[in-house]
Amino acid sequence: MSAPPRVCVIGAGSSGIATAKVLLERGIPFDCFELSDRIGGNWVWGNRNGISAAYRSLHINTSRERMAFSDFPMPAHLPDFARHDQVAAYFDAYADHFGLREHITFRTGVRHVAPLPGGGFDVALSTGETRRYQAVCVANGHHWDPRWPDPAFPGAETTGIEQIHSHRYTDESQLVGKRVVVVGMGNSAVDIAVDASYHAAATYLSARRGAHIIPKYVFGRPYDQIAGSERIPGWVRWPLARLLLRSVTGRMTRYGLPAPDHKFAQAHPTMSSRVLDRLAHGAIHPKPNIARLDRSEVVFTDGSRAAADLVVYCTGYRISFPFFDAAFLDPGEDNEIRLYQRVFHPRVPGLYFIGLVQPLGAIMPIAERQSELVADHLQGSYALPDRLAMLAEIAKHRQAVAKRYVASRRHTIQVDFDDYMRELSRERLRGAKRNEPGARAAMRAVSRTSA
Ligand SMILES: Cc1cc2nc3c(=O)[nH]c(=O)nc-3n(C[C@H](O)[C@H](O)[C@H](O)COP(=O)(O)OP(=O)(O)OC[C@H]3O[C@@H](n4cnc5c(N)ncnc54)[C@H](O)[C@@H]3O)c2cc1C
Ligand SMILES: NC(=O)c1ccc[n+]([C@@H]2O[C@H](COP(=O)([O-])OP(=O)(O)OC[C@H]3O[C@@H](n4cnc5c(N)ncnc54)[C@H](OP(=O)(O)O)[C@@H]3O)[C@@H](O)[C@H]2O)c1
Repeated sequence: MSAPPRVCVIGAGSSGIATAKVLLERGIPFDCFELSDRIGGNWVWGNRNGISAAYRSLHINTSRERMAFSDFPMPAHLPDFARHDQVAAYFDAYADHFGLREHITFRTGVRHVAPLPGGGFDVALSTGETRRYQAVCVANGHHWDPRWPDPAFPGAETTGIEQIHSHRYTDESQLVGKRVVVVGMGNSAVDIAVDASYHAAATYLSARRGAHIIPKYVFGRPYDQIAGSERIPGWVRWPLARLLLRSVTGRMTRYGLPAPDHKFAQAHPTMSSRVLDRLAHGAIHPKPNIARLDRSEVVFTDGSRAAADLVVYCTGYRISFPFFDAAFLDPGEDNEIRLYQRVFHPRVPGLYFIGLVQPLGAIMPIAERQSELVADHLQGSYALPDRLAMLAEIAKHRQAVAKRYVASRRHTIQVDFDDYMRELSRERLRGAKRNEPGARAAMRAVSRTSA
């Protein structure tokens, strides 16, 4: 057997450390580079990498049991929905337990990745050094490059109202005594609106679309533990979840929120028990979308106005890879990226993406399973299908996403946790089968004719 290729892992957030652990376990040589002086990425409040989106009040919205790596449970003394520092400590403990730290080069950013014509990559580092690798695992996260409303709301350039993106929100002191308009209906929006409802002079929650808000507990159990299981197919799971939700929260319009224009599970879930409570207390005023910013007032699409000091745009994130030439790979304004099984670049062998999904569920177990698949591929026990088959799978997946989810840039990398986890396991078996000698010869013939 030939020596395994040397791998570069970009990032030591939860996805990067999942990859590092699998590669180390399999004896595949790798270097992991991390911008920051520590692991944990997004979960490190005040991370010195300067790109964490965490804020003081942040807690996970995927329950501890469903978020943990398969062979390293989150400590049982942690709450079901742990706080950011408890989650960051868990990732630290994981890295220590599996001896990952010595394989991570901290305070070292990957500046440029150049795929080479004959295979492999030149990786330029912030230290000025360039190293050559046969494979690259991209785990740089996809919740750090803020997406501002585009086009900006009329008047945004001229208003005196302060405007920030939720990415720059770090704690409640930014809200104290202000009249705050929070824009969006995702998890950042509801969390920040709840913080504002306790600290600001007035809180408005402005949404262009309604959401089915899910409480963290249903019948005394974390919601994702009741409705979630790989063994239950989506067509059983989601109607059941819909029913449960309807019986617990009732209609969103009862809270003054707009009626969602889509069915439950056709959008990335917004999870918050507290926002429903604060709406019910009249501490948050629901508003439709912003029509314009008029000097010191926000004008909404229903014609109502609110005097405001601060607008917080919780309008999501762009998928960005600053280390690739834009001509090679750029998800662009549409946030689109086309990967076989959401992991493999269909044209560039050895280029893998870990954790580049937005699940209805947690990212960590997914990153772990994706890494197993990548390790199989690197070790030659998993074979990819031919390029045409990869492109067909990508097209089919895109169609399925378009059919299922609300058309929004926030849904371009959406997956259903349980269905995708099952699919990754099945793909592992399919790839092993494709790897059998007869299948490989047939595939080579197909590749030659489709080249
Ligand atoms: C506010 C918020 C709350 C969230 N809550 C949840 C939740 O409850 N459950 C859940 O499953 N997901 C949640 N998410 C999604 C979140 O993306 C994941 O939890 C997790 O952070 C993904 O890990 P990651 O390693 O892919 O990315 P990140 O955590 O972003 O880590 C990426 C790492 O790569 C490093 N890096 C980036 N670029 C480079 C470079 N060029 N060179 C070297 N290093 C680099 C960064 O410094 C960072 O350490 C949340 C996201 C946000 C924004
Ligand atoms: N653990 C937690 O509690 C927690 C907290 C915060 C975030 N998160 C996670 O972090 C990720 C990002 O969440 P997010 O809430 O920051 O972003 P998001 O999920 O992408 O939501 C963005 C919101 O902004 C709206 N929006 C986008 N552009 C707009 C525009 N131009 N005008 C008006 N509204 C606009 C979107 O509406 P449309 O639907 O109409 O596009 C959507 O409601 C998600 O995975 C989320 O689960 C988790």
